[in-house]
Amino acid sequence: MSGFSPAWLALREPADRAARNRDVIARCALTFAARSSLKVCDLGAGTGAALRAFADLLPGEQQWTLVDRDPENLAGALTALEAWADKALRHDAGLTLHHGLRRIEVRTEVLDLARDPACWPMDSDLVTASALFDLTSAAWIKRLVAALAAGRRPLLATLTADEKIAASPPHPLDKKVAAAFRQHQSRDKGFGPSAGADAGRFLEQTLEAAGYALTAGESPWVLEPSELLQATVEGMAAAAAEIGVAGDELAAWLEHQRENTKQLIVGHRDVFARIL
Ligand SMILES: C[S@@+](CC[C@H](N)C(=O)[O-])C[C@H]1O[C@@H](n2cnc3c(N)ncnc32)[C@H](O)[C@@H]1O
Repeated sequence: MSGFSPAWLALREPADRAARNRDVIARCALTFAARSSLKVCDLGAGTGAALRAFADLLPGEQQWTLVDRDPENLAGALTALEAWADKALRHDAGLTLHHGLRRIEVRTEVLDLARDPACWPMDSDLVTASALFDLTSAAWIKRLVAALAAGRRPLLATLTADEKIAASPPHPLDKKVAAAFRQHQSRDKGFGPSAGADAGRFLEQTLEAAGYALTAGESPWVLEPSELLQATVEGMAAAAAEIGVAGDELAAWLEHQRENTKQLIVGHRDVFARIL
């Protein structure tokens, strides 16, 4: 299962939904509560999980532009959204969905955000991104925030991974594997040297410096034994192996995680930012 495959995104979607910070999401919802319609652009949209998570909290008429560089994920988004909607109509421009009382127009755009972060339609009311910022670099975050601020555009960025990883019961190699995993996270993921576990805080500082008012908080996964927990520890072990942690050490660590881990906490941060 690759880091961005539709199968991985489907596996993590329920945990993401449970993890998102309630105060951050509520502030975003409140900001647009008086509106009857909203145009949203979701960066690194994957299979459309953010739309499914936020649509019920936003105004009745919505237009979403889903941007991703992976056409397979965007094709998966249309299929998953059709399944999620009460009623769906495919047309040349994308999809028209009805979900509860919401009517939602969806279009997709295959695009490399690394080239130009400011890819949203000029009339977008809100830019969103989920599980994206830890892949990006400090330089890219600065470019993105400058472009957002130029249009005084609000941003809702959820599930930016931070440094917290805690398994219980603990294992003597936990720190070594976590450090190697974090080192792997800070490799270039296509945006320049990745901000990795510092991305969330750096994003918040950059937004504040650009005049944004923030509502921010933690949004950790709290995983119990499950397929997602297994896939997460396997991903950590694979990353640690690439960094150079010895195979026999990793095999022992992985066996412990598979057999004994009762809870795994994986930290993230969420932020809603707007210029008042
Ligand atoms: C961890 S996934 C998150 C997907 C989705 N936001 C979610 O929460 O399920 C990161 C997404 O960013 C996309 N992505 C990564 N680098 C990108 C780039 N340079 N340009 C556009 N999309 C990119 C990947 O294809 C993937 O769909």
